[in-house]
Amino acid sequence: SPKVTKICCIGAGYVGGPTCAVIALKCPHIKVTIVDLNKARIDAWNSPDFKLPIYEPGLDEVVRQARGRNLFFSTDVDKAIEEAELIFVSVNTPTKKSGVRYVERATRNIANIATSSKIVVEKSTVPCRTAESMRTILEANSKPNCRFDILSNPEFLAEGTAIQDLFKPDRVLIGSLQTPEGIRACEALSEVYANWVPKDRILTVGLWSSELSKLAANAMLAQRISSINALSAICESTGANIDEVAHAIGYDTRIGPKFLKASVGFGGSCFQKDILNLVYLSESCHLPEVAAYWRQVVEMNEYQKRRFSKRVVDTLFNTITGKRIAVLGFAFKADTGDTRESAAITLIKDFLSERALVNVFDPQVEHSQIWMDLQEASPLVPLDHIKKHVTIASSALEACKGVDAIVIATEWKEFKELDWEQLYKTMNKPAFLFDGRLLVDAQKLTQIGFKLIGTAIAASLATATLLVSHNTLSKRQRRKHLEEDIK
Ligand code: NAD
Ligand code: UDX
Repeated sequence: SPKVTKICCIGAGYVGGPTCAVIALKCPHIKVTIVDLNKARIDAWNSPDFKLPIYEPGLDEVVRQARGRNLFFSTDVDKAIEEAELIFVSVNTPTKKSGVRYVERATRNIANIATSSKIVVEKSTVPCRTAESMRTILEANSKPNCRFDILSNPEFLAEGTAIQDLFKPDRVLIGSLQTPEGIRACEALSEVYANWVPKDRILTVGLWSSELSKLAANAMLAQRISSINALSAICESTGANIDEVAHAIGYDTRIGPKFLKASVGFGGSCFQKDILNLVYLSESCHLPEVAAYWRQVVEMNEYQKRRFSKRVVDTLFNTITGKRIAVLGFAFKADTGDTRESAAITLIKDFLSERALVNVFDPQVEHSQIWMDLQEASPLVPLDHIKKHVTIASSALEACKGVDAIVIATEWKEFKELDWEQLYKTMNKPAFLFDGRLLVDAQKLTQIGFKLIGTAIAASLATATLLVSHNTLSKRQRRKHLEEDIK
């Protein structure tokens, strides 16, 4: 098989950046150029003080070692395409039917520029059979003596642990056509990974299996979270403890302990998008029952977020109008600055629509990003108005001063280790704490005096809250009716 000496990666985002930086680190004999149309992003990757465009533990160490040696970041997409033997397409693929438009654009770019044969690798998560469309575009536009072999090589890294996941992947999946040329291309890419990944972890399959496996893996993972979150609703009504339930079922080796943490809902750029992708695929295969099954995973997640906001309102004696709520965490999970589809956005939007005041703190997310996300979530509300009701705090302590309730929206480890005694003193009483991540030590905080409303609370407390919300529910309805009458 042909030896790969030059790699180009189109798309310098959360996947293209870390993935190809690690390839460069592990393969010093390969020149890796990561390109993007977004100049600001490339400038950040090239910044002299390593202020990289994404926050990912361990990433700057990798970039420090490889950048300028055999790792380059550039906006000159065409040049990088021209000189590479292997090209990763790692562009964003937003949902909806036009989701592959960036892939298509990058593919056309490759077809127009290439004057020698290329292996084109689909790294982005795409609907099944996208490789087929890519091949059609490439072949229809190729120059004489230019061969294109297409591979699917989906990425399984999770944000926050990307470097660790890339150093020691559970598996690397490569899909190719089962023709001699397809298999040769597959071998060429396998050899790149074999520089640090054990051979038995490099799986080679057909193109369509590879594409579908990526959607399937994310759907199965998200389905576990929606299942545990559905059970958490039952726990809250019955007084069972969801952490205990998760622990008990996770001991079954067939179920396993990972990814069973009940939460305020999953976020991130992948789960919802990829499941909807699977839903569209099922629909286009005329499988409405299958589509409905997977759609329910997303709907359960929406329900979980709604249920959480409602619980805050119900617990705070039916109204949060004019009350101040601290939201700890804005990223969609810990150890990332990424906010795409973060549950915190939905919660704050809900709180604002109930006319609460919100203090938000996140250790990584840029302030400008928070304003952008909140504006996007409520497009009809002027940003001025949002800024009057939301304050971005510079520490958790500052965010919690004088508030009526604290909501933990992201599982940042530092929130576990806050000086909760001190926080308690500065809050209004009763000091409600809604642990959307089952992060804090419930017993310890209850002893301090917090009224902990999580899903892992003691059975007696759960029952008490249940009674409270039943009573207040009817009051709330009465208030609604009253409001309607006044109108
Ligand atoms: P991203 O938005 O962070 O990065 C994509 C980049 O591609 C952007 O910087 C954009 O400017 C650039 N781009 C788009 N079209 C281009 C073109 N024609 N030429 C050059 N650059 C172009 O997205 P991401 O999070 O890195 O995701 C990329 C893909 O990987 C998606 O398909 C996603 O589903 C998949 N994926 C993401 C994750 C994750 O954790 N984020 C994990 C696995 C797979
Ligand atoms: C996911 C997949 O895990 C990864 O393999 C794929 O390549 C991209 O999509 P990511 O979205 O980065 O990765 O993070 P992940 O760790 O999967 O978390 C997704 C969301 O689920 C987060 O909001 C997280 O907080 C939430 N989550 C995760 C739970 O609520 N409970 C859990 O038990 C695990």
